Amino acid sequence: MINESFNIWAKETRANPQALYARIREVDPVFKGTGPQTGRSFWFLTRYEDCVSFLKDQRFGKQIEKHLPPEKVKEWRGDGEPDPVFEAIDRHMLNLDPPDHTRLRSLVHKAFTPRIIENLRPRIQEIADDLLDAMAGKDEIDLIADYGFPLPITVIAELLGVPVEDRDKFRAWTRGILFEGGFENSRASAMEFGMYMNAMIDDRQQHPQEDLLTGLVHVEEAGDTLDRVELLSMLFLLLVAGHETTVNLIANGTLALIENPDQIQKLRANPDLIKPAVEEMLRYNGPVETTTWRHALEDIEIGGKVIPQGDVVMAALLAANRDPAVFANPDTFDITREPNKHIAFGNGIHYCLGAPLARLEGTLAVNALLQRLPQIELAVPREQLDWNDSLLLHGMKAMPVQIKHA
Ligand code: HEM
Repeated sequence: MINESFNIWAKETRANPQALYARIREVDPVFKGTGPQTGRSFWFLTRYEDCVSFLKDQRFGKQIEKHLPPEKVKEWRGDGEPDPVFEAIDRHMLNLDPPDHTRLRSLVHKAFTPRIIENLRPRIQEIADDLLDAMAGKDEIDLIADYGFPLPITVIAELLGVPVEDRDKFRAWTRGILFEGGFENSRASAMEFGMYMNAMIDDRQQHPQEDLLTGLVHVEEAGDTLDRVELLSMLFLLLVAGHETTVNLIANGTLALIENPDQIQKLRANPDLIKPAVEEMLRYNGPVETTTWRHALEDIEIGGKVIPQGDVVMAALLAANRDPAVFANPDTFDITREPNKHIAFGNGIHYCLGAPLARLEGTLAVNALLQRLPQIELAVPREQLDWNDSLLLHGMKAMPVQIKHA
């Protein structure tokens, strides 16, 4: 057993996880680490092929009560009763296996197909233009607060049919639940979110609209396909996944462009390269660092090691997307890279539902930014950028940039 200590959880790892992942992939690619706060152990997969086969393998799953012996379930969940506040937002498709996963995903799948999403193009362009208009007269902005966050949250709020004016509340709750302020803050945020969404659901029962929320409320009313907890959890997942990720695509992608002046020049000179450029942004410094976890439902061999039944595994997407076995010169940011079979959106049955939307948002947001701002530079040294303390979502808290207007 290799005993080099890899502190995946360290604060400094968040700013530049790639160096550590490269080392792990080289010396112990199927690596078991223990979280310093929870004391729990997790397996991390860092090779591309291992990640893909893991994500496709239905012997890894989420609903351990259904598949594991009671003592293994107890080992993971502990003795206490599950907290009802978190339970009310946890029963979404990303936490479920088939057939529940299939049932919930099929309820919203049609709203996110590439053809339907393409209809949003003019509205997304308009949102990007309005945000850029609001920067007039400023020579320094926070690319996250002023652009990367408001764009996707406005799009997903409009699509769902929840008030865009409340977007700062959504952000505070999701950040609270996901990674800020400890357990009590997380619980309080989950409770406020649940109360707010329950009120929205009641409102749509009285006043139906042309939106996804009304559609889902009708499904709940019709009976046995969607219950209230599943509906609340679905809204939570769509709202969180709909913005906490795309904000990182816009910001991490722009950072990669700023740090690679030849590539930003190439894209400015040829905006048609935006499609492969967005794919490269997703690969090079993607918005999601690791997938959510799955449990081994039986003893499973992966990459030459046996993962015992019950153990928890995650695919380190950032590591897989720089695997030299798959990508030539993996540490080079090349906006014309071809082929580019990155797995920034995951793989298998939980492959990102919002991928077409995220791609369209990234494409329009970055091109509008480059067209309107002939100069964008970091306003602080790179080392001063403050990264989120999350192993799941890879992004900055703020990204101060100096800009010049066209
Ligand atoms: C660049 C932006 C995005 C990235 C990189 C991303 C990435 C991912 C990844 C890696 C997964 C799989 C997680 C796992 O297997 O544990 C996932 C799932 C998911 N994503 Fe995204 N996502 C993005 C944007 C969005 C957007 C805009 C939505 C909008 C609704 C969305 C909705 C979802 C949903 C619902 C799932 C769960 C799918 C399932 O369980 O079947 N994502 N995403």
